[in-house]
Amino acid sequence: MLLLGVAYYPEHWPQERWETDARMMQEAGISVARLAEFAWSRMEPALGRPELDWLDRAMDLLYKRGIRTVLCTPTAAAPAWLVQAEPDVLLQDQKGHPVSFGGRRHYCFNSESYRRHSDRIVWAMLERFANDERVAAWQTDNEFGHRCYCPRCAEAFRSWLKHKYGTTEKLNSAWGTIFWSQEYSDFSQVPPPLLGTGGNNPGLHLDYLRFFSDSIVSFQKRQIDLIRSADPKVSITHNTMTMSIYDDMDLYDLCADLDFASWDNYPMWTKDAVAPRSNAMVADYARSLKGKGMWIMEQQSGAGGSRAFGRFPSPGEIRLWTYQAVGRGADTIVYFRWRTARFGAEQYWHGILDHSGLPNRRYEEVKHVGREFSVLRDPLDTTSLRNRVAFLNTYDSRWALSIQPGNAKLDYFGHFEKYFSPLYRRGIGADFVNHRTDLTAYPLVVAPTLHLVSDELAATLTEYVKHGGTLVTTYRSGVKTVDNQVTDRPLPGPLAGLFGCTVEEYQNLEQMPGVEVTLGDELGGGIALSSVFNDVLTLDTARALGHYAGSHYSARPAIAINSLGKGTAIYVGFESEQGFYDTFVPWVLSRAGLPLPDLLPDSVEHTVRQTDTHRVHFWLNYADTERTVDIGEGGTDLLGKAPARGPIVLEPLGVLIVRETT
Ligand code: GAL
Repeated sequence: MLLLGVAYYPEHWPQERWETDARMMQEAGISVARLAEFAWSRMEPALGRPELDWLDRAMDLLYKRGIRTVLCTPTAAAPAWLVQAEPDVLLQDQKGHPVSFGGRRHYCFNSESYRRHSDRIVWAMLERFANDERVAAWQTDNEFGHRCYCPRCAEAFRSWLKHKYGTTEKLNSAWGTIFWSQEYSDFSQVPPPLLGTGGNNPGLHLDYLRFFSDSIVSFQKRQIDLIRSADPKVSITHNTMTMSIYDDMDLYDLCADLDFASWDNYPMWTKDAVAPRSNAMVADYARSLKGKGMWIMEQQSGAGGSRAFGRFPSPGEIRLWTYQAVGRGADTIVYFRWRTARFGAEQYWHGILDHSGLPNRRYEEVKHVGREFSVLRDPLDTTSLRNRVAFLNTYDSRWALSIQPGNAKLDYFGHFEKYFSPLYRRGIGADFVNHRTDLTAYPLVVAPTLHLVSDELAATLTEYVKHGGTLVTTYRSGVKTVDNQVTDRPLPGPLAGLFGCTVEEYQNLEQMPGVEVTLGDELGGGIALSSVFNDVLTLDTARALGHYAGSHYSARPAIAINSLGKGTAIYVGFESEQGFYDTFVPWVLSRAGLPLPDLLPDSVEHTVRQTDTHRVHFWLNYADTERTVDIGEGGTDLLGKAPARGPIVLEPLGVLIVRETT
């Protein structure tokens, strides 16, 4: 259900103020407040002495105003008394140094003693707040994401390896430990991948990243199990920092245990606003983690920063960001934060209210959104995005590339964005799926740099194409085996049959000028300038759609297209400038039998949420000047409460939401 919320830290303010806050929230249409995150020292000032009356009181005041609480487990900030009593709960960095108390996220996920402390505080909260109608949901921790390399983690890693491999012989063979005489005769000899070793074994390193992801997932699972044991019906989520920011865990795995996914949306982290297109892609990624019912658990509502800070959102910008998230599948928007803190590391991370707590223009804007949400709630109920294009990404590929990108300019998601951009500019939606997703709903799947490919994934993709799917992959795909060894098969390894071609040689262009590619007639002729890598192709059953026109591999195929069963597989052997994708993606959409809407006006975004009976269109204008969109037959302008059709003028930073009956 479409709801509005705020991140609220009552412990930062005198209790006399709480009633005013609750009233002002109610007046702004806020019905959810996220509480208790980072409040451990106040909830348990000393070991085993929980003090939750204050929280109860805050929850009560809010509830009387129609505001339910999202209760957070406070484990992202272990209190000083705990760290003093048990210093070994502190994490150690990759150099093997313990971090010091004084910030947050300083704990070790594999510390059994920290896990017991976590159990205790979560249980204390449950004893008081389980099955409580004031609670809307629980949030685990805060933005999971750091790795630890302490001796305890090393020990847990070794158990994980024992479970995975059974014998050191198998481990030695998987990692190729004969290289540099690293063969292990006992699991106890295996180290974590610390820095300063002169280069870690890539097999070991990848396993550590997998192990660590599992460690975070299991840390969270223990909290989830505890919450469910006391309150089986309550919904549980976690506020993820999605995509490129934290790759410390596989977010698909993390979210598998949750009832819904949440994402912290900062379109203007500190200085420059993220391009709306880039933010749209992250929103799509976050939504795809569960495929439905996403929340924005932190929606930026002020200037961000700590030592220095960025600009304030312009009038209308908070509303625009809000509707971008809603248009891309968010159902609840929780603004970060209700009021800007007067102290602490984030005293310049501005929220809705400034330090003074007085109403301001940002508060008025949120209030405005609150009124609009009450109009939009029903039409948006049960709507979802129904996308027919998928981007396939796997953490295995991403992690293998982070260990050895081969080329420092290789930007995994930057590459995705080049394919995403022509879709975005036409209002075509996309989901971000992983290797476990059923691909049959997607006529087109784009899988840039599918670097590490298991035989199972190769078989899945082959079946997908044989049954009529169109699959695109790109340079440096199928290079790594599941053990993070380079395959001994001609590249793209297990994908060669599917793409009907092999890579004769690959060239790294990091320190070389781009090489021109002559595009075939189907792609409109012309020249694309390649960069990052060139995979020089040898065709088997495939045919070429473009050829290199430079270097010693001039005239060799650069793009191959292969028909297999009822479908098509296309291998693009290089990365290029945006212009190439602006031609290639529309062409491939048509080949996949998908519609090709016209380009939207510059700076305009269009998304659709739908049910079987109606569609709700979101038209957003990011420009500071007007834009005109043609909405065709149109429907009802939900915010203007009037029929709308044909060309419509969007004001600067304007939003148009139209309900169309199908
Ligand atoms: C988020 C975090 C919040 C706050 C915010 C602004 O990533 O979850 O606690 O730190 O950033 O910095």
